[in-house]
Amino acid sequence: MVIFIEKKEIDEPKSQKEKELREKWDRLRFNTKLISAGEDPYPETSHSLRTPIYATKSYVYDSLSELVKNHYYYSRTENPTLYALDKKLATLHGAESGLSVASGMASIHLACMSVLQQRVERIRPKKIKELYPQTKPEIIPNMVIHKNQYTGSFRLFTKIYPQMGIEARRVNLNNLEDVKNAVDENTKLLFVETPANPTVDIIDIKACANIIHENNGKCIVDNTWASPALQQPIKLGADLVVESLTKYINGHGDCLGGAILGPKKVLRDIRYYWLETQGAVLSPFNAWLILRGVRTLGMRMKRHSSNAMKIAQYLDNHEKVYNTVYPGLKSHPHHQIAQKQMKNFGGMIGFELESIEKSNKFIELLDQIKVGVSLGDTTSLIEYTSLMTGIDLASWEKRSMNISDTHFRLSVGLEDPQDLIEDLDQALKQL
Ligand SMILES: Cc1ncc(COP(=O)(O)O)c(C=O)c1O
Repeated sequence: MVIFIEKKEIDEPKSQKEKELREKWDRLRFNTKLISAGEDPYPETSHSLRTPIYATKSYVYDSLSELVKNHYYYSRTENPTLYALDKKLATLHGAESGLSVASGMASIHLACMSVLQQRVERIRPKKIKELYPQTKPEIIPNMVIHKNQYTGSFRLFTKIYPQMGIEARRVNLNNLEDVKNAVDENTKLLFVETPANPTVDIIDIKACANIIHENNGKCIVDNTWASPALQQPIKLGADLVVESLTKYINGHGDCLGGAILGPKKVLRDIRYYWLETQGAVLSPFNAWLILRGVRTLGMRMKRHSSNAMKIAQYLDNHEKVYNTVYPGLKSHPHHQIAQKQMKNFGGMIGFELESIEKSNKFIELLDQIKVGVSLGDTTSLIEYTSLMTGIDLASWEKRSMNISDTHFRLSVGLEDPQDLIEDLDQALKQL
């Protein structure tokens, strides 16, 4: 007798109760979703108030017939701790499905692969050769990206993808005519990061999604700097959203993680093909930490935003500070887009000082604000952009991204804003 094993998919509710719970989570308001969605007496979490850490690689059954009824096989593709997080994040974004992975970069790469490359199975070796990009130069796929974004994504798109036969076209996504001109019949993807790292550009998600949809391509939005508390790109027309959970969503600076949100069908392919093959799996312990962190996201984003607004106003009025960029300031060139698509303006500020000499001195003088890469947690972190995340960029690349030699990126934490202002003030006074 031959038994066909049809893999049960994790996204399909296993019982009527589970189906009703999922529908209930979708109806809740944002701050209640943060607490309940994915976890609220969920059959798979043994009725424990807190989701347990499922430290296992395999799931075992008494018989093959039991195994085929279940959707837990192997922790590279399914784990109940991670799935609680997947479901919570999908609910927060109003997405059909979610998938948590090892880091923000992993989420970006997996999401882009699912759009830019084909899923192929059971193909003859001769046929696979026809998929080599060099065999059909006239149909080389391309993606359109903003002129500046997180340096990790920039490197992935402009240094690694071209070697895989994918062209990255850099344009100013704030100039919609430039976007239209860059898109052609081989454009499969428009990648939007907003607010953009490190210059805090704000890009119009709806307008960009419309342009790429008219050309049958897909729009992926990196929502890391906003988090779903401030911006929900699927509701604005994005096809997929990626998040670095390392930042605001976990919010406590103690682990890395990433997530992809979008339609069930696409997420199924990403989970069972791209993630299963590439293996950038989140650990159950990190999923548990992120579940713990995300429950307070709404409160934290409110406080990050109000602290950052006060500090941006202080910097903007200081005679020794130049080009303070914060989406909440009316002087921000895209303030109106931010008002339209964000619920609040977030915790990230960019600014410049007068000279390299003063910049070097300033960063040494700060005390309460810590010098460090990354962002989005309780502790305020500052980076001297050109010498930290920008260190691997060529000078012309930095110029093309508007990263000057005196640019700073400040991630405003949850401290008392007056202590942060006093710290900046004492450092600026000594310049
Ligand atoms: C906008 C943005 N996307 C993605 C990432 C990468 O996230 P991770 O460090 O979790 O890989 C970062 C990191 O700073 C980021 O700022």
